Amino acid sequence: MAKYRIAVLPGDGIGKDVTEAAMIVLEKLGVDAEYRSGAIGWECWCEEGNPLPDRTIQLLKETDVCLFGAVTSKTADEALRELSPSLAGKGLKYKSPIVQLRQLFDLYVNLRPCKAFAGNPLNYREGIDLTIFRENTEGLYAGVEFHPLPSEVRKVLEKHHSGMKRFSREADEDIAISLRLMTRKGCRRILEKAFEYARQFGRKRVTLVEKGNVLRETGGLMIREAQVVAEAYPEITFDVANVDALAMWLVKNPHQYEVLVAENLFGDIISDLAAQLVGGLGFSASGNIGDHYAIFEATHGSAPKYAGLGKANPIAMINAVVMMLEWLGDLDRSKALEKAIREVIFEGKVRTYDMGGSASTSEMARTVAEKIA
Ligand code: NAI
Ligand code: MG
Repeated sequence: MAKYRIAVLPGDGIGKDVTEAAMIVLEKLGVDAEYRSGAIGWECWCEEGNPLPDRTIQLLKETDVCLFGAVTSKTADEALRELSPSLAGKGLKYKSPIVQLRQLFDLYVNLRPCKAFAGNPLNYREGIDLTIFRENTEGLYAGVEFHPLPSEVRKVLEKHHSGMKRFSREADEDIAISLRLMTRKGCRRILEKAFEYARQFGRKRVTLVEKGNVLRETGGLMIREAQVVAEAYPEITFDVANVDALAMWLVKNPHQYEVLVAENLFGDIISDLAAQLVGGLGFSASGNIGDHYAIFEATHGSAPKYAGLGKANPIAMINAVVMMLEWLGDLDRSKALEKAIREVIFEGKVRTYDMGGSASTSEMARTVAEKIA
């Protein structure tokens, strides 16, 4: 039996192209793995009325880790329009499959390394090396939302918070609420992961990204928990930054930051900002990590206009493979692959369109594969 069972979910659009590319380097690395591919995404929604079929969930349960490409998602109206006619009128609702997977498998860490490869023409500056820990299961993405506002919910809110008075003239159907739901456990575990990582990799500074002066209750809980966790790491400098100010500082002085930790929405936003500092969507990968399972993905979407053209930069997805191998504990292969990417970027002979070149997705992947020692 193979050492690892790896679920492979290419998804839609360029998700398929970059997953094929990832398989080229995995084959060259000779990982002792059984790869099992599964269906996910828009095509599943249109044909089956479910972007995350039960058989895919089962597949993940039977594997050690998952490599995920990208999926297409569209608005609720488009989702209904494109649904197969035989499924119409059944009350089916589209729900992002990757968000479902994060919640279903309790993948509470979203890990995003943002490290500049020397010589990448897309680097904002050379030498940037940030790691972001984004809480992945709650906060504003907890999924607790109302529209129209149910009258019982409204009554309870009005009873418990005078702030509701200002909205008393608005009709229920004119109010929408998305709850920023944060738990002590959720705050605690993402903070602990961030500090533990900083200690393990000798990073000197952890910055919590919040907005405690306005979001006093949720932000306050997170900040207080952070102060408690930080006490156990006296060798690490801890500070709290407001998310808006941090967006500015990250652009001005990106080298001053090392490890950033944030709740779901703030983490999502600063992750994209930081990714752009080191090459953008063609380079950015992330891990959705829980205590027992993890899904590694390219951060970009399905880029429909490039689907099947073989133009997409596969480095993002290959970076996801680097992270996956590290998580599996196969550090030799993870390092060998990262070194191969670094060399290819530094040489600059093979570049995809986003880097100003004309290499195809598979050419880039083969070039990296050939560099693997
Ligand atoms: P996108 O990430 O798919 O593409 C935006 C643009 O970035 C592309 O048009 C292309 O110019 C560039 N780009 C993306 N990946 C690239 C790569 N590997 N190499 C070179 N250039 C690349 O975002 P967009 O257009 O907003 O969304 C397209 C679809 O993807 C939507 O349906 C969206 O919902 C979905 N999406 C899915 C995600 C996921 O599966 N995790 C994440 C983001 C978007
Ligand atoms: Mg995002």
